[in-house]
Amino acid sequence: MIESYREFLPVSAATPVVSLGEGSTPLIQCSRLSERVGRGCEVFVKNEGVNPTGSFKDRGMTVAVSKAIEHDTKALICASTGNTSASAAAYASRARISCVVILPAGKIATGKLLQAFAYGARIVAIDGNFDDALRIARELGATGDFAIVNSINPDRIAGQKTAAFEIIDEISDAPDFHLLPVGNAGNITAYWAGYRQFLEEKKSTKLPSMIGFQAAGAAPIFYHWVIENPDTIASAIRIGNPASWQQARAAIVESRGAIDVVSDDEILAAQTWLAQQEGIFVEPASAASIAGLFKCCDSRHAAYSIQEIPEGSRIVCTVTGHGLKDPDAVLQRMRGLKPVAATVTNVRRAIGL
Ligand code: F0G
Repeated sequence: MIESYREFLPVSAATPVVSLGEGSTPLIQCSRLSERVGRGCEVFVKNEGVNPTGSFKDRGMTVAVSKAIEHDTKALICASTGNTSASAAAYASRARISCVVILPAGKIATGKLLQAFAYGARIVAIDGNFDDALRIARELGATGDFAIVNSINPDRIAGQKTAAFEIIDEISDAPDFHLLPVGNAGNITAYWAGYRQFLEEKKSTKLPSMIGFQAAGAAPIFYHWVIENPDTIASAIRIGNPASWQQARAAIVESRGAIDVVSDDEILAAQTWLAQQEGIFVEPASAASIAGLFKCCDSRHAAYSIQEIPEGSRIVCTVTGHGLKDPDAVLQRMRGLKPVAATVTNVRRAIGL
């Protein structure tokens, strides 16, 4: 990914590129979602779940870890709700340096924890939430023993801008609306910076309205106050005091966008809908952008109504992480499988033929 956008990234010939082939993710034209919006609007899903560790974090991590190696760093540290730790662990092993991840105990989706373990990170679980973990990571990062690779690291944001570049390159301009989930608020900050940069470079002619969605139980930006005990099934965005709060606000205000909330039920319904109607299986946090799109279409209480947007508008929804990362959310809804005898007759009966 660095090679595709080198001139727009903080790298030089002296930067050793640490890459796992991230980026170039599919921008999927979704006919059913487009029908749902109606009026000739076109909806695309930017599927970041197909990055090397299954989330958008890899875009930022390739830049952050390449720069860390350039600066002769020996170890990485991060706090995480899961995906950042999986990504940091993978890129650290690729760069042959160590990686410490600080996680809220019992709050990380199974697949993500398993990834950090498999890539060989040193995992520390704390009796606290993500915001506590980030406070500790910041403090340890400040000692100079570690490079901190959370999205407070500007190299992470620089890398994540490339998702906006790819969208513009693919549809020859910026979309009219961009919807995405918001947790620590680094990604909305990065997309907005990317869209602005490509407008300045004259690679696009407009800026999209940025519309962010938080889970209702973890929505500090929406409510304008810190949430002490954030709670949602979408564990990736279970954050009560986002590090890039001000930048997210700026993106929303400058782009004439909005911030809104979606409930856990809406998130799970959107996750199922997207898998079964469009064939895209995402983790719950990622489904927040789809749940948000539905809310903007259907609800009179939405912070942004897309019932009145111009006909033929182009809408991009980012889905941030792969569905397999969080099997528990789906397992709870799965009925147990009862085996039948290994005959065609029994299988026909089981299908209902
Ligand atoms: N979606 C997923 C799947 C995430 O993992 C995250 C953040 C977000 C959305 C929100 O992005 O924080 O830039 O607003 N995950 C971080 C982590 C916090 O530790 O993996 P954001």
